[in-house]
Amino acid sequence: MKKIVITIDGPAGAGKTTISKLLADRIGYRYVDTGALYRGIAFEALKKGVADNDDVGLEKLCNEIDIKLVLKESSLRLLSGDNDITDIIRTPEITMMASAVSARPAVRKYLLDVQRNMGQQKGVVFEGRDMGTVVFPEAEMKFFLDASLKTRALRRFVELGNGSVQSLDEVKEEMKRRDENDRSRNIAPLKPAPNAVVVDTTDLTIEGVVDHLFDYIVKKLKAS
Ligand code: DC
Repeated sequence: MKKIVITIDGPAGAGKTTISKLLADRIGYRYVDTGALYRGIAFEALKKGVADNDDVGLEKLCNEIDIKLVLKESSLRLLSGDNDITDIIRTPEITMMASAVSARPAVRKYLLDVQRNMGQQKGVVFEGRDMGTVVFPEAEMKFFLDASLKTRALRRFVELGNGSVQSLDEVKEEMKRRDENDRSRNIAPLKPAPNAVVVDTTDLTIEGVVDHLFDYIVKKLKAS
């Protein structure tokens, strides 16, 4: 099958990560979690004391850091320089900081090149917020996954497990605030690309969504 770029956008908890990984595995593609890149910058900004609205400081930070996603033993790892920060970027503090810094032009500009470079060889499933609208407007296949806030919050709460420091209501509130930030920002807001296939995953199983996307892709590629 011809290699293409597949984009999967949508709000937090819509199932993007799990579905993108499974879909990429099934078609033998690489998978890129672009949210992790924003989390990496948030991590460095918090570490170095750069405020989320300090555009000059964020630009300087982006010029100094080296954030990248690499495949290690078939798992995707986030590196900042030589530091593997994959397992420490999912805290509530970094989550909200990632949403805040992602609204700043210097951060989006820096990551635009990083992401486009990863798509050059095609054969990649990119997951994020603006993959189909801004980063890869020419992508051959675009999906937008959504689900009700209640369902998305519950999924995230279950995912956090017993060790969660947040109640279900707190997870839901944080998700709502983050979605509002992500949807209302001026640059690259979260929204479906005009030619994206929108899938509401509220009442669907993970396998059901993966099957649906896979069948759609195969049919489209055969017809092209
Ligand atoms: O997917 P995630 O929850 O790990 O993303 C964290 C934040 O990063 C999210 O709230 C918005 C931002 N983000 C973005 O602006 N554009 C992307 N392509 C991916 C994530």
